[in-house]
Amino acid sequence: MSQTQYATHGDVAVITMNNPPVNGLGHGLRTGIVEGLRRAQADSAVKAIVITGAGKAFSGGADIREFNTPAALAEPSLHTVIRAIEGSAKPVVAAIHSVAMGGGLELALGCHFRVAATGAQIALPEVKLGILPGAGGTQRLPRVVPLEMATNMIVSGAPVKSEKFKGTKLFDEIVEGDVTEAALAFARKAVAENRGLPKVRDLKIEHEDAEAFLQFSLNTAKSVAKNFPAPAACVEAIQAAVRLPFEQGMARERELFLHLVQTPESKALRHAFFGERAASKVPDVPADTPLRAIKSAAVIGAGTMGGGIAMNFVNAGIPVKLLEMKQEALDRGLATIRKNYENSARKGRMTMDDVEKRMSLIAPTLSYDDIGQADIVVEAVFEDMPVKEQVFRKLDEVMKPGAILATNTSTLDVNQIAAFTRRPQDVIGTHFFSPANVMKLLEIVRGEKTAKDVLATTLALSKTIRKTGVVSGVCDGFIGNRMIEQYSRQAGYMVEEGASPQQVDRAIEKFGFAMGPFRMSDLAGNDVGWYIRKRRYVERPDMKYPKIADKICELGRFGQKTGAGFYRYEPGKRDAIPDPVVDKLIEEHRKELGLEPRKLSDDEIVHRLIFALVNEGAKILEEGIAMRASDIDMIYLTGYGFPLFRGGPMLYADQCGLYNVVNRMKDFAANPHGDPSFWTPAPLLAKLAADGKSFNG
Ligand code: 3HC
Ligand code: NAI
Repeated sequence: MSQTQYATHGDVAVITMNNPPVNGLGHGLRTGIVEGLRRAQADSAVKAIVITGAGKAFSGGADIREFNTPAALAEPSLHTVIRAIEGSAKPVVAAIHSVAMGGGLELALGCHFRVAATGAQIALPEVKLGILPGAGGTQRLPRVVPLEMATNMIVSGAPVKSEKFKGTKLFDEIVEGDVTEAALAFARKAVAENRGLPKVRDLKIEHEDAEAFLQFSLNTAKSVAKNFPAPAACVEAIQAAVRLPFEQGMARERELFLHLVQTPESKALRHAFFGERAASKVPDVPADTPLRAIKSAAVIGAGTMGGGIAMNFVNAGIPVKLLEMKQEALDRGLATIRKNYENSARKGRMTMDDVEKRMSLIAPTLSYDDIGQADIVVEAVFEDMPVKEQVFRKLDEVMKPGAILATNTSTLDVNQIAAFTRRPQDVIGTHFFSPANVMKLLEIVRGEKTAKDVLATTLALSKTIRKTGVVSGVCDGFIGNRMIEQYSRQAGYMVEEGASPQQVDRAIEKFGFAMGPFRMSDLAGNDVGWYIRKRRYVERPDMKYPKIADKICELGRFGQKTGAGFYRYEPGKRDAIPDPVVDKLIEEHRKELGLEPRKLSDDEIVHRLIFALVNEGAKILEEGIAMRASDIDMIYLTGYGFPLFRGGPMLYADQCGLYNVVNRMKDFAANPHGDPSFWTPAPLLAKLAADGKSFNG
């Protein structure tokens, strides 16, 4: 089916872009537009042309589904299309509604006139994909809106509502109601008034001191986005627009664009963009699976996690019943939630009125009789199977049929929890990350018997509550924590071998992590990992663990909450201060092990940590616990502070080359300390490396 419709309305031709979902400017659509233009030129009855978009967008820009395929490069390119529009012998009017982004806006800038509906979202979001507007956006936008505004839009990628452009040359008219009708009327008027074929490219960029402003913008872009080259390149392209004749500016934009597309940072951002969308799709769950309605929720346990989980529902306007065992615990939980909202109000993110409105959506209770009608219940009680059993047996009794029963367990077997009920099909894991009201990640644990519609509904719910939902199968630690355990083991081994906790933290923070493993452990509570290790020592006597973290815990140094862990902390402060007590403890421990400390390079530290993640990630992939490598990356980007500009552990490994990863692991295995079997490449990793392939295809 053609991706454009062509119709004549009296003496005006209307070309309607029709490439759902958002009229991405793929090859078919580009071809259709050029065809439409040719037809209109050939028809002497046609005096003017209107271009608009069908459905929910004027155009969302280049078709992202075409990225990295030959179609992206096939003629007519977007440049060719825009040139054809601009060179049309009959005036072309863009009728913009809903969304005009990226290439969509660039196409509109090639038109002779633009009519926009109020409320339309206007943006050049390319920078978010690590690129820049590559079809003239950096050259034309500064010619129609003030230089500051154009620079802000291009460097931030943020959308601006059409009505904000009143008084600029971007839109000739901003109208309420049917924009196509308005554009038709405008086109007729333009012809009648003989307004000619004005081209944006012919306009001058007006600014008192463009050079100084752009130099300032360049410095800011470099310092703010230091790990991302695109924002600075955006400013350089705008500098070219100011300094050079139009065609030369276009050439410079192209050059910068082609460079950026190849950067690992852009690949990482595009990987994350697609990864986020891929994560919401499950191959054996059809996209049209009917969802269960989620209009109300209940949360069991108002502790660290329960409070934050309740806030997520409330923030999305979903009323919550919050259940605790004792009034004191309930009061404490509610007070924490209120304090969090009040802090947001203090920072100007909401009004005190909003605080009250949100608090009014939470109904505290001590009785299960009050929660039975909730559409979903999330359990966040102590991490202890007998307690979970008691709660789930009770939920099975009281919840209405069809309610989703979710558990926030971080380590326990979701299948076993489901088996405590007579409706295991309704049970699912929703593993939130702390602080649950802030962290983007929601690991969704699909039990053996979880129904497809329960999974689809939970994935949709993750969007409603503005989380990135990623599906995991059932295994100890699920995807994220199972991998992080191997990372922590390596961190511990490296301290035994000679690194200090602060060297390990510094090396991985320099690589881009938000926080190194020891600072992170101090923040989360060292006792959490200790508890898990004690269980491991019983269940997996075959597995070796470095013992330094246990020794820290034996001293009661549980981290920030006890004022000391791998570092020490001043009362009420979060700055990690190296502590000679810890240095001494490490020194004695090395002596006990008979280890002569050696100097480890930052490179060794970083790659032992990352490849520990990668090897476990490969096992998880092979076992089908994760559906795709990008899901693992999304988990690490949104839940573990992995640097976005590197795209996640699996993409990082791909970019290193899996053959090189395996070789490096062989080097690590030659180290006599630790557990040499640790570095046996997962069979999937070994196979991909041998075949010259990568995790992400
Ligand atoms: N091409 C093709 N499909 C697109 C698309 C695009 N440019 N943008 C979004 N989609 C798809 C999404 O993948 C999604 O598909 P799915 O339902 O199969 O998962 C569907 O459209 C709906 O997307 P959202 O869920 O994001 O819907 P919203 O209504 O919330 O938002 C949007 C719509 C504002 C267009 C938003 O999707 C968006 O910001 N898209 C990215 C736009 C973008 O980055 N454009 C620049 C492309 S680069 C470019 O133009 C290069 C040029 O300068 C040369
Ligand atoms: P917490 O100890 O802060 O809170 C648990 C709350 O549950 C307490 O307020 C307690 O009074 C209440 N509770 C206990 N038994 C109950 C019962 N039978 N009925 C009603 N309420 C009951 O614990 P936290 O940290 O909030 O953990 C809760 C769950 O979330 C655990 O399964 C944990 O593994 C998981 N989790 C914790 C994370 C964290 O960082 N703290 C991260 C991700 C998951």
